Parts: sequence; C-alpha cells; structure tokens
Amino acid sequence: MDREAFDRSLVRRLVDHIENGTTDLSDEVMEVPAEVYSSPDHLRRELAALFHARPLVLCLSGAVPGPGSYTTVDAAGTPVLVTRDADGRVHALANACRHRGVRVADGCGTARRFTCPFHAWVYDTTGRLVGVPTAPAFEGMCRDDKGLVPLPVAEGYGLVVGRLRPGPPIDVDELLGPDLAEELALLDFASWQPYGETHAHPVGANWKVTLDTYRENYHFDYLHRDTLKSYAYGGVLTFDALGPHLRNCSALRSIDELRARPEDEWRDVDRYFSYQYSLFPNTCLTFDSRHIELWQIFPDGVDRSVVLHTAYARPGLPDDEQAKLVEMAPWICETVVDGEDFWVAARTEPGIRTGLVDTIVFGRNEPACQHLHRGFLAALEAAGTTAGSGSAGC
Ligand code: FES
Ligand SMILES: [Fe+2]
Repeated sequence: MDREAFDRSLVRRLVDHIENGTTDLSDEVMEVPAEVYSSPDHLRRELAALFHARPLVLCLSGAVPGPGSYTTVDAAGTPVLVTRDADGRVHALANACRHRGVRVADGCGTARRFTCPFHAWVYDTTGRLVGVPTAPAFEGMCRDDKGLVPLPVAEGYGLVVGRLRPGPPIDVDELLGPDLAEELALLDFASWQPYGETHAHPVGANWKVTLDTYRENYHFDYLHRDTLKSYAYGGVLTFDALGPHLRNCSALRSIDELRARPEDEWRDVDRYFSYQYSLFPNTCLTFDSRHIELWQIFPDGVDRSVVLHTAYARPGLPDDEQAKLVEMAPWICETVVDGEDFWVAARTEPGIRTGLVDTIVFGRNEPACQHLHRGFLAALEAAGTTAGSGSAGC
C-alpha cells in the first residue's frame, strides 16, 4: 500500500463514522478489577514482566541524529544514556558511573566523552571507561570491566528500542510485527527531530490510568469541551489492533472540508486527521502531517506516574508552520494534557485505592483501552503471574 492510499482508507472510515454517528466498537463491555491499579504486588509484577523484561521505546531516532549525539531517559526508575557512536551505531547504557553509581549525563546534546561529576571518571560514547584520575589508587582494577553497563538496544523504523535490564538482543521487526513495521516505514519519520526539550510530567495516578486517557476520544466532548472539542471530533475513532500494539485515528474538525466534496476531489488528506499509535506497553505516538508527539508513560509507585513528552517536527517545514507548532506546544502540554487529562487522571485517587470502586469499566466504544488491558494481563500470564483478569459485562 502507498501512503496516499493508506491515508485515504483511514479518512474514509472517519468520514463514514461522522456521517453515521458511529465509531469503531469492540464486541462487548469489559470490566477490569480495580485492584490492578492499586495493588503494590501487581505493580511489582508489571515492572518485571512489562518494563524490565520487554523492549521499550527509549526515544525516536531523531533524538540522537548524528555521531556523538546523546540523550538521557529515566525509564521506570532506570536512568538510561542513549548515544550514537562515531560509526553511527546506537547504544543504550546504564546512566550510572561504575565507580560509585553517580549519573554521568543529563539532558541531551553532543559529546565525545562523558565525565562523571563526582571524581571525573571518563567514558566514551560506547560506554568504555577511558579515563581514571588518580589511576594508581585503582591499580589492579580491570578497566575493561568497568564501562557503563550496556543494555540491549536496537534501532529501526525511526524508533530506538531498548531493554532496561540485560537480556537477549532485540529484533525490531519481530517486536513490531510485519503490519506495524510496514505502516511505520510508510510514515517515514527517522529524520524528524525534537523541537524543544523533553518534559517530565508527574501525574498523581497509576500509570495505566494515565495511559487510558490517551486511548479513547469520547471524553473530548466533556472533559475537553472548552479546548480540544472545537479542534477534533470526539467519540469518532478508528481502532485497529496490530499484535499487542494498536492504531487509533481521530478526525480534526477541518475534515468537514473533505466531507463537503466528492472523494475524487480530496487532496492532502493527511492534514485532516491524526494517527495515534500505542506501542505496547507504555508508549503513545501521535502523528499529524507536521509533527509527532512521543508520550512515554512510566510507573512511579503504585499511585503515581511520570510521562515523558517529546515533540518532533517534520524536516523542511515552512517557517510559519514550525512557528505555529512551537506556539501551540504549551497549549497542548499545559492546558490540555496537564490541565485536563492528567488532572482528571489524578482524581481517580483515592476512589480506586480505597477499594470502594471494585471494577473499572471500558465500554464498547473504548476498544483500544480493552485491547491494551488484555495485553497487560496476557503478558503477566505469560510471565507466570496474574492478579485477576478482565471480564465481559453482564
Ligand atoms: S562516582 Fe563517578 S567518578 Fe566517582
Ligand atoms: Fe484527553
């Protein structure tokens, strides 16, 4: 399939839904035990099965655009340094000095060497220990064993994917599956680069509550009635499962311009909707024709989460479009997401924690939430441990 045909097929589905007052539905209502959001033991199992054993998206390729570039990611309590070495190969390294464990790098940028701020041990971009001041004091220590701890990492389709604990090598094709890999290849975003810095948003809610806010848009007409509602259609969503991952698409209000014309007059259809991918388990990737928003959702205790948000722009955007993206960023980030989505996520506390609410309900119009929660339970089951399972409504 080519990109134009792909975009058109999705726009057609969105237009049909708007005309008919419909949205993609799952077969049944699903209830999830509230305990999966409140149990410290469940979180321990999730950390092992979902966050430590599985590869996670660490960043997009554009965050480390050339040799010598680096970025840092704090992922579920694990500090990671992502580098691109002189040969262009990406590395994921534990961001912890091998002397006494201090973080060696912050933020992002370019560097040939990373010098620990405590006693100035020096590492190169592959993590090799290349300098130890007061070397005689460490006589007998094998320097070759004291590089930054390497973590499994792989790059493909514009994604840098790594594991937070040592383990087998990562195969990006296998991780994505052929359909999602083909789609991401079509979207072709490996050269898109961040504008602005990564923001860490603290949220007073379990990580899955936070994640759930991304996976349906029927709340647009209520929670976002003064913000997003006038910009995008609420309650109209396509849903396609792609293995454990998924794709949603939302229509911008401007899609009404297409609805007013016969399909053979539609042009530049990618301007009228957005793709929202969920890359299992914790990554949201929202695309429109100009930019990508990467949202990485991590647990921070059972009732808190941290969302890392980085926006990437398509290269070669006209100045006025780039300026508009920069101008809109605080509105998206602070007004809509912090002020509304994360505000409402935090209001689940203490309702869920107390146990007074025994289940969380996902309607037929929330198929993406259902799909992800089934995936979480399946992954925990595969790891040999579960705490309750989703069930159909009565
Ligand atoms: S802790 Fe890094 S040099 Fe001492
Ligand atoms: Fe929202």
